[in-house]
Amino acid sequence: MTEILALGAESILFKITRWNQTLALKWRQSKPYLLEEIDFQLRKSRTNRECKMLTVARALGVRTPAVYSVDYTNHTILMDYIEGKQFKHLVEQISDRELVKLCHCFGQSIGLLHKGDVVHGDPTTSNLIIDNHFRLWLVDFGLSEMNATVEMKGVDLHLIHRALETTHWARQEIMLESTIDGYIDVLETESEDPLARMKHIRERGRYH
Ligand SMILES: Nc1ncnc2c1ncn2[C@@H]1O[C@H](COP(=O)(O)OP(=O)(O)O)[C@@H](O)[C@H]1O
Ligand SMILES: [Mg+2]
Repeated sequence: MTEILALGAESILFKITRWNQTLALKWRQSKPYLLEEIDFQLRKSRTNRECKMLTVARALGVRTPAVYSVDYTNHTILMDYIEGKQFKHLVEQISDRELVKLCHCFGQSIGLLHKGDVVHGDPTTSNLIIDNHFRLWLVDFGLSEMNATVEMKGVDLHLIHRALETTHWARQEIMLESTIDGYIDVLETESEDPLARMKHIRERGRYH
């Protein structure tokens, strides 16, 4: 049985049953407006990056789906299916207390990545899944990078700030505060430089 889970800008997520297990298959589609060769290379490199970084993040202690296989001809990744809801859609339905808890966990996860010099690259609430046990999972690592500098971490934090204010305007303050709390919780004094960089990036408006 195959079911479409999500239709993204660059990919389609399928829910499939294989080996008696429910799995997720992420397929990067071709972009008809790109030259064929460029399109192929882009899909290949994003697929490669995502597969690698899902595993790197997992090794750093962040909840990510386990990867079973990757196919560079068809640009697909086969991974664990996480049963749950996009955090983006859950935000409107939960109490302040639950929201603080989940955002704290989000901040801790980003903190663990940054501690390992990894940035997520697209840290929005649509790339977070909350499972049925209220645990938070990170997905969508196609733009993730290793050997991250303070600037890259500052950009990652800035992207969080921007995503919260654009997508969750009414609850952005409590969400940002608890996310940063979680981040500091993991990084302690190491959080100071990336947070200062985030403020600086916001002030200079370069990514606005
Ligand atoms: N392993 C998974 N299990 C369950 N749902 C998933 C899984 N991976 C992604 N999704 C869902 O599919 C959506 C799109 O996947 P994502 O990796 O973010 O693709 P895109 O690059 O197109 O944004 C996610 O927002 C999430 O809701
Ligand atoms: Mg996504």
